[in-house]
Amino acid sequence: MASWLRRLLLVCAWISTANGAWKRRSKPHILFLMVDEMDGRLLDAESPQVKLPLKHLTALAKRGAQFANTYSSSPLCVPARASMLTGRSVSQIRVWDNFLGIARVNGSRTNVDQRCVDAFSLEDCRTFAAKQNTTGTFIDVLRDHGYNITMWGKVHAGAGLDQLGNYDVDAFKGVSQVGQAARAWTRATGVVRKSQNPTKWLHRPTDLRAPAPGHHDYDTAEMCSQLLQAGLFRSTTPRFLYCSFTIPHPPYQTNSTYFFAVPPLGDLAVPKYVSEKEMHPADVYAAKAKGTWGLDEVRPALIENFRRIYFAMCVETDKLLGQILSALRKSGSDKDAYVVMLSDHGDHALENRQWQKSSMLEGSVRVPFILAGPGVRPRRIHQVASLHDIYPTILDIAGIPPREKHLIGESLLPAAQGHGRKKFHAVAEYHDSYSRTGMYMVRQGDLKYIYHAPLLSGEQWPPQLFNLSVDPWERANIAKDHPKMVQHLQGILRSEIDINAADAAKKAYDKDMFLKYVYSKKSGPAGCFAAMELAHPGFDAYDAHTVEQWLGQRCCQVKPGRRQRGAKYHTLECPNGESPSAASEAGDTV
Ligand SMILES: *[C@@H]1O[C@H](CO)[C@@H](O)[C@H](O)[C@H]1NC(C)=O
Ligand SMILES: *[C@@H]1O[C@H](CO)[C@@H](O)[C@H](O)[C@H]1NC(C)=O
Ligand SMILES: *[C@@H]1O[C@H](CO)[C@@H](O)[C@H](O)[C@H]1NC(C)=O
Ligand SMILES: *[C@@H]1O[C@H](CO)[C@@H](O)[C@H](O)[C@H]1NC(C)=O
Ligand SMILES: *[C@@H]1O[C@H](CO)[C@@H](O)[C@H](O)[C@H]1NC(C)=O
Repeated sequence: MASWLRRLLLVCAWISTANGAWKRRSKPHILFLMVDEMDGRLLDAESPQVKLPLKHLTALAKRGAQFANTYSSSPLCVPARASMLTGRSVSQIRVWDNFLGIARVNGSRTNVDQRCVDAFSLEDCRTFAAKQNTTGTFIDVLRDHGYNITMWGKVHAGAGLDQLGNYDVDAFKGVSQVGQAARAWTRATGVVRKSQNPTKWLHRPTDLRAPAPGHHDYDTAEMCSQLLQAGLFRSTTPRFLYCSFTIPHPPYQTNSTYFFAVPPLGDLAVPKYVSEKEMHPADVYAAKAKGTWGLDEVRPALIENFRRIYFAMCVETDKLLGQILSALRKSGSDKDAYVVMLSDHGDHALENRQWQKSSMLEGSVRVPFILAGPGVRPRRIHQVASLHDIYPTILDIAGIPPREKHLIGESLLPAAQGHGRKKFHAVAEYHDSYSRTGMYMVRQGDLKYIYHAPLLSGEQWPPQLFNLSVDPWERANIAKDHPKMVQHLQGILRSEIDINAADAAKKAYDKDMFLKYVYSKKSGPAGCFAAMELAHPGFDAYDAHTVEQWLGQRCCQVKPGRRQRGAKYHTLECPNGESPSAASEAGDTV
């Protein structure tokens, strides 16, 4: 836009602000409502996705700006939250997976997150901090500008934020979960679990008294409501109240109250799958790695039941949020406080033969996002938005200049107030479990483009292009028919993310982390096979060979050997039959 035009628009915006019915309070109170794993399409009237009785969220959307096409920055808890909190992409801050959150506290290289230190070591966390390149979270910036911060519930991002809040979930799992770590960091090998029997885990418990799974969700709702009712937002000190739920994140479980609140699913009871042969290789890999391949053999009633449980959890989520929103209303603060509601990513609910997230398909990557408050024009906003936009939006609401100078998103406050957006696309990237290689997405207008970085072998999976206005379930890849469009969207992607560097950096990180925190800790060659078996049940000698080729180190199985003079001996069976010591020498040259 020409700069004179922008200036004119800014002047107009200022006049309408000055003459409007609302007065903008400097440093308004902010209620930040976060949920985990909620599919954004559930709230979007224009999406064909199932519609649920989400009474409280629908009411909030009616009085706020609903950004109906909002995308996660990286569809997984820790990366999505870390990039949202810092306003940078996951590859810029190098928070790639759920094993390592933001090591820096308030942007400091030396003051590092204590839970990182507990999981790894002070030295390691300072090394992570040096690489992460973050200047602090928007919560740090709010605090430095006089906001009183109150936090309840899941943060799951590190950055020392657990010190400010209550009931956070640890972002630093370190090596305590060997199987998960081994699975995540060896993803490039393409090894997957052998058994694919979804029937077993599709059976879920249904009648639990307090269904939200034990992460203090009920306490969070209660504490936030009490604080608001006691007049938290009537204070002259600006306040930021963060209330964050784990629900509707798995474990998938509910009770009959919520289960029967879900209306009949009709045509959507069982998703329509493209044939296994026509599936994109990235989606085939994801389904197999998740153990959800073979859904075609599962009884439809079981699939429907499982989906209803997830949807029931969304109804429960709405109820918990409703408790807080009604406390806000009763306290009389709903007129002058801003409310932000969002999720970190979605859930497939068995679409695309998958559960959970970790893909660039709509169920996984679309999130709800509502912004309500003074001056916000209630309406549905079709233009795309991203979790990348949250950092600048929150600081814009607070009237505080961003500390981070290299933001990837932009403030959505002008759009919420009825003005336009500068950006017409959203990008996302993903580099963790269930994806063999770096996965990138651009959404612009009707189109979604997904690019897959080359595999280790050099093989390149074809890109995906979907026209969401005619193909909302992403069943027809039209990339081949639109080479110009593919080129255009690839250009946008490259302008936002250094895609080759990001993929190379993450693949190198995977290998380093695996060697240091799984392989070495599990006795190297002798423990490798056992660790990999935890990651992928049914792991066999062929898989071990694949891991050896990738790692440049032996990956052996301990077998009982002979007994001699009362002592038990063990032998190591390595895929190439070489002795580990000889092998590790050979490994150095790889
Ligand atoms: C956070 O970092 C900023 C910038 O370095 C600094 O000015 C501020 O004092 C720090 N805040 C706290 C609470 O340490
Ligand atoms: C940190 O990010 C800034 C902005 O993108 C960049 O200029 C700088 O080179 C980065 N530093 C490191 C150490 O990556
Ligand atoms: C923030 O508000 C809480 C609740 O009123 C209060 O207990 C706390 O002392 C305040 N913190 C600061 C730094 O003002
Ligand atoms: C389901 O859980 C809610 C609490 O969220 C509770 O009020 C309700 O009574 C429970 N329903 C059943 C059938 O236990
Ligand atoms: C996507 O579908 C819409 C609606 O049919 C159509 O107008 C548009 O041209 C399509 N875009 C492409 C690239 O095919």
